Amino acid sequence: MSDEPLVLGIETSCDETGVGIVRRHTLLADAVASSVEEHARFGGVVPEVASRAHLEAMVPTIERACETAGIKLDDIDAIAVTSGPGLAGALLVGVASAKALSIGPGKPLYGVNHLAAHVAVDQLEHGPLPEPCPAMLVSGGHSSLLKVEDVTVGVDPLGATIDDAAGEAFDKVARLLGLPFPGGPHIDRAAASGNSVAIDFPRGLTARKDLERHRFDFSFSGLKTAVARWVEAQQRDGITIDVADVAASFREAVCDVLTRKALDAATTYGIEDILIGGGVAANSRLRAMATERAEARGIRVRVPRPGLCTDNGAMVAAPGAELVKRGRAPSALDLPADSSQPITTVVA
Ligand code: KG4
Ligand code: ZN
Repeated sequence: MSDEPLVLGIETSCDETGVGIVRRHTLLADAVASSVEEHARFGGVVPEVASRAHLEAMVPTIERACETAGIKLDDIDAIAVTSGPGLAGALLVGVASAKALSIGPGKPLYGVNHLAAHVAVDQLEHGPLPEPCPAMLVSGGHSSLLKVEDVTVGVDPLGATIDDAAGEAFDKVARLLGLPFPGGPHIDRAAASGNSVAIDFPRGLTARKDLERHRFDFSFSGLKTAVARWVEAQQRDGITIDVADVAASFREAVCDVLTRKALDAATTYGIEDILIGGGVAANSRLRAMATERAEARGIRVRVPRPGLCTDNGAMVAAPGAELVKRGRAPSALDLPADSSQPITTVVA
């Protein structure tokens, strides 16, 4: 029997009810129930609907995870849960469930930052993180460059988006093109048959004058507006929009900026690895472009497989196991759900 901690992680910050079970760096189960179809017709996640769906999915998802891992709840050493950031009501369902699992049998409870979890999950696939490690977090709500000294203690933000998050840009542009929500995977698929140099869309905050103040920051709202203007102009002229070309050119612009800035951060801090996490890291072009450009500079890219990039419970269990292993103090039982938990607070 291994003496590595067996940890159950719960994720409910948005529309995925995720329950993961890990033994330190080994992934044993990753059960996810998504309410995405209930939100699709609204073009975005409806908080109240998401909370109710979490409540209904929680117990079956915990049962499914235990069954897959071949364990009983009794076997678990500690519970980890996303305490923020995210939708307040959705987070509350996860936090309350985690407290219930913790109080009865007296198991330690760890409130974990969702953004740090997107970074820590990579350990389940590629082993311990190099410390320090620059990381780029690109999700529906956040786009940040971070320097991770120790994922159980804290992360230093190097820069962040000054307007829309990368995933948000994918979702908004998808809507403009008549593609379903969430837009990222649909744009990725549509782009596969498109020409990425068909339209020269702007690369936000990459001009020399912007780099002085915003070297590690992102801006995607200008790009989104440029796509909207382009689509409107075509429609005005009665030209049928080539969705594949727009998707490919847009995707290329986002990936170009993300990759350039991530590699710049790695080079600036003299670090040979760069980690990419969050839902947008599931993007096929981002993965290929980052790997190719990094190799040319002797930098290694670590990016988890697509299923671990989008929200899941294993990503919460992963830092939980690290917290237990490193002897960090558990969270108090009055742990709140903090919808705007800052990235610098890794453990609540
Ligand atoms: O990390 P995540 O699952 O949830 C948040 O924490 O926000 O990220 C969701 C975001 C959505 O905006 C979605 O459109 C985007 O990730 N996404 C993608 C892809 N898969 C998901 N964006 C681009 N390409 C993809 N393949
Ligand atoms: Zn996320």
